[in-house]
Amino acid sequence: MKAVILAAGRGTRLQPVTLDKSKCMLPIAGKPILEHIINAVKEVKIKDIILIIGYKKDKIKDYFKDGSGIGVNIEYITQEERLGTAHAIGLAESRADEKTLVLNGDTIISKRSLEDVLDVKDSTATLGLKRIDDPRSYGVVKLDGNRVKCIVEKPAEFVSDLANTGIYVFSSKIFDAIKRTGRSKRGEYEITDSIEILVKDGEDVRGIEIGGLWSDIGNPWNYLDSNQAILKNIKNEIHGQIEDFVKINGNIHLGHNSVIKSGTYIEGPAYIGDNTMVGPNTYIRSFTSIGDRCHIGNAVELKNSIIMDHTNVPHLSYVGDSIIGSHCNFGAGTLVGNLRLDEKSIKMRIKGELMDTGRRKMGCVVGDNVKTGLNVMINSGRKIGSNSMIGPGVIIYSDVPENSFVLQRQMLETKSK
Ligand code: UD1
Repeated sequence: MKAVILAAGRGTRLQPVTLDKSKCMLPIAGKPILEHIINAVKEVKIKDIILIIGYKKDKIKDYFKDGSGIGVNIEYITQEERLGTAHAIGLAESRADEKTLVLNGDTIISKRSLEDVLDVKDSTATLGLKRIDDPRSYGVVKLDGNRVKCIVEKPAEFVSDLANTGIYVFSSKIFDAIKRTGRSKRGEYEITDSIEILVKDGEDVRGIEIGGLWSDIGNPWNYLDSNQAILKNIKNEIHGQIEDFVKINGNIHLGHNSVIKSGTYIEGPAYIGDNTMVGPNTYIRSFTSIGDRCHIGNAVELKNSIIMDHTNVPHLSYVGDSIIGSHCNFGAGTLVGNLRLDEKSIKMRIKGELMDTGRRKMGCVVGDNVKTGLNVMINSGRKIGSNSMIGPGVIIYSDVPENSFVLQRQMLETKSK
């Protein structure tokens, strides 16, 4: 059996960190999301993978090449225009097998979640499902036993709490259904509409509640959740150097040529990449992922955050529940707010609309190559676009577009004493 992984989308809801790379290439614990997915596919003994690529496709190809570096065979198909998931899957028709595993490229999964779907034999289509409190942003399925009665994409009204996970096994009949699929209300050719066609044709379409890991990365806070889910299972692996008087609780990964200097206190699980310097006197709290070639210095506290490659937070800073892009430099005293004074849940602007993150604690999202001056404060739920500079003493109360230079003017009065 081959696996088709849909990885052509951009991940607009994760802007600004998806300006320079697609969502599937965002890092978690030192690997792109897509590599975590491919590793799960490899664990169920599927080695032939078709990647549907589009947005920033060269970065994906440069990283994975023919797949031999990670023990799989990868074929690429370019989706020139992102016309929807049904269109993307349809492109794989000539290269698919009689049965094909199809996966979204933006969802962290495990061997177990795949096995549960693969265990079903002889169906025309099998969908992996999860029960979710608020499934309005998913495809939602009604079942009769384990036969799918209907599937409704992103319903405004409650249909069922069973969400489509984007893990499918399709027989080749799906390609005929795709050809008969029209555009949805959202203007896309959606695989859930093709599945609904199979149901109406009376085909055997099954829905199976899956166990194991499933963490869909739509919004920034889901990216933090997926980072947590991966770090929970991280092994203790120390390749770098740990100086005396460092205290580490729980598991950490410390990469090659990285150094943790004296006085540092780490509450694992945490991930520190290669060639990174931490300390002296840094406090790293659980679920923090730090990339390669970073510098996290004296009197810096990091908590539940993703810090990408080549980023420095060198002195006197706090970063909590945040996503910080690569090649950033935070000036001394840069502080991120992650809790409102009234303790209401934090809102974040996604595709222009203010959305409730549902979290009491959420920090900021900062694009690549952002520099902050001394004593910058970034309010909870705010975003700073890539390539921006924030002058000293600025308080970021609203989102900053990319390529901005934000300066604060002071009204100083100097009198003689
Ligand atoms: C999709 C499902 C939804 C399911 C959810 C699970 C559809 C129509 N809906 O919604 O039922 O509950 O996943 O997370 O499929 N992609 C392409 N080319 C395209 C469009 C998308 O490669 O033209 C890729 C994206 O990069 C992504 C995946 O397909 O990896 C899913 O696309 P996305 O638009 O995020 O679908 P969802 O809205 O999450």
